Amino acid sequence: MSAFDAKATGWDDEAKVARAVVVAGEIGEQVPLAEVTDLFEFGCGTGLLSLALDPRPPRALLTDTSAGMLAVVRDKILAEGLPGWEAAPLDLTVTDGPEGAFDLVVSLLALHHVHDVPALLARFRRLLRPGGWVALSDLDDDEGQFHDAHTHRHHDGFDRDTLARWLTDAGFRDVTFTTPHVLAKVVDGVERDFSLFLAVGRATRRDRQPRQPVP
Ligand SMILES: C[S@@+](CC[C@H](N)C(=O)[O-])C[C@H]1O[C@@H](n2cnc3c(N)ncnc32)[C@H](O)[C@@H]1O
Repeated sequence: MSAFDAKATGWDDEAKVARAVVVAGEIGEQVPLAEVTDLFEFGCGTGLLSLALDPRPPRALLTDTSAGMLAVVRDKILAEGLPGWEAAPLDLTVTDGPEGAFDLVVSLLALHHVHDVPALLARFRRLLRPGGWVALSDLDDDEGQFHDAHTHRHHDGFDRDTLARWLTDAGFRDVTFTTPHVLAKVVDGVERDFSLFLAVGRATRRDRQPRQPVP
């Protein structure tokens, strides 16, 4: 049972829809979506980000650990009539996904829930075909101000230089950052702005394994 199950049906409020639309639009500026056939989303929630991509790739695997979130996405996929789209429980922090099966990996506000982000990025790289794209959005370093003390997370946002290094070490090149959105939130009675980054990179070609001699 995930803490997000109880939030799933009421998740899609105006602010969350708006931020997903803006981040999806920025992904469309950075990544040639028309060339993407197979999309993977990590921590999809109710699917707001992937469903806002334009054009939508013909095939998509949207993954989450919350059964409640996945139930909402499945209803949307059915309602929108997207035969190549699937929502499935998959936790890339504990298992590999299908190797070399995707052209684009996206994620919005899910990375901060993961302890070992470098290991997750290596798994994203493994999912991708050479030249494939990663487009990840989360909070910039928020000094612990964005989430309250009771909200489970592993990171209070991210430092861009550190994340860029992790992406490079995981096998991504041409890493760039933009700031697609700023969230306004009242903290201790004062409205504060929290910026979201979008990190985009391309999967490097991995060294080929030496061919095994034919017996
Ligand atoms: C803050 S919500 C964001 C949901 C959605 N991306 C959005 O922007 O509306 C974080 C999501 O990440 C999911 N999540 C957390 N840890 C995960 C993991 N290890 N694997 C897959 N999903 C995970 C949660 O279940 C939740 O749906």
